[in-house]
Amino acid sequence: MSKVSVIGAGNVGATAVYYIAEKSIAEVVMVDVVEGLPQSKALDFLHTAPLRRYNVQITGSNDYSAIAGSDVVVLTAGIARKPGMDRMDLLKTNVNIAKTASQAIARYAPNAAVVVVTNPLDVISMVVLRETGFALKKVIGMAGVLDATRFRYFIAEELGVWPGDIEAMVMGGHGDTMVPLTRYTSVGGFPIAELLDAATIERLVDRTRKGGGEIVNYLKAGSAYYAPGASAAKMVEAIVKDERQLVAASVYLRGQYGHEGIFLGVPVLLGKNGVEEIIEIELTEEERRALDASAKAVKEGVEQLETFYKPG
Ligand code: APR
Repeated sequence: MSKVSVIGAGNVGATAVYYIAEKSIAEVVMVDVVEGLPQSKALDFLHTAPLRRYNVQITGSNDYSAIAGSDVVVLTAGIARKPGMDRMDLLKTNVNIAKTASQAIARYAPNAAVVVVTNPLDVISMVVLRETGFALKKVIGMAGVLDATRFRYFIAEELGVWPGDIEAMVMGGHGDTMVPLTRYTSVGGFPIAELLDAATIERLVDRTRKGGGEIVNYLKAGSAYYAPGASAAKMVEAIVKDERQLVAASVYLRGQYGHEGIFLGVPVLLGKNGVEEIIEIELTEEERRALDASAKAVKEGVEQLETFYKPG
């Protein structure tokens, strides 16, 4: 059986483990700095196995060496912004956490594919790439799957149809600058423009863009975790089972879509090697402009990173 390690046994990490266990996708290891936290959650998950009928080994540890030999590592370790903390403080803290985790991944799980969840995603992915020294195809940011599932749900709700019947592709950076390809969004194969008017589609796109924020507004402290956890689990499954699933993920671009040297959400095939292929499709003028704006926002994040971060 494959081995998947989840670094950060908080809300997103534990939720990802939950979905991975439910489908018996792989043996799971959870690692966290908080003493007893990953151990407690691992044991709790094991207690549930007879009821939910899964049979996978789940362990928790405060020691990174537990991730040894992992096929996939999911990075969710990080902190959320606290009152009085500015974006730069948050960035510095999460970069340091990603640095420590990446060095451990390189040491103990040198063949793993890394699914990055910690925000700011497109920047943290860059740190993971540099610190692990892994091949480009092995570092994959989770964003497009999450943005797409939110968009799919809102469309299903609007039309009163089964959510699983909606297909959608969301490119670009994670959050405000995401680029939903509405002309490729369909309901049972029919383009949504056949079923919804332009104003309605725009309203649903806008709600998707603010999807994470809507949840933060309710939660106050903390951010979404069921859909992010499920999105990470889906990516893990595609890699572990070598499915070659076509999803959007944040990957390092070398000229694709006209961008160089940044992580940006684009369609990829996920399989046992991580990113098996980056799929390039023709974009309309408007889509390209939106993607460029997204890339600009990511570049600004990387420039901020460069002001304090030195690899190694
Ligand atoms: N190594 C391992 N775990 C760590 C480290 C570290 N160096 N530093 C912090 N952690 C752990 C924390 O102890 C905590 O249990 O990471 C966990 C983060 O969990 P939560 O605070 O519950 O945050 P969560 O909601 O899971 O979000 C995690 O995912 O979606 C993104 O923006 C979100 O960056 C955030 C990340």
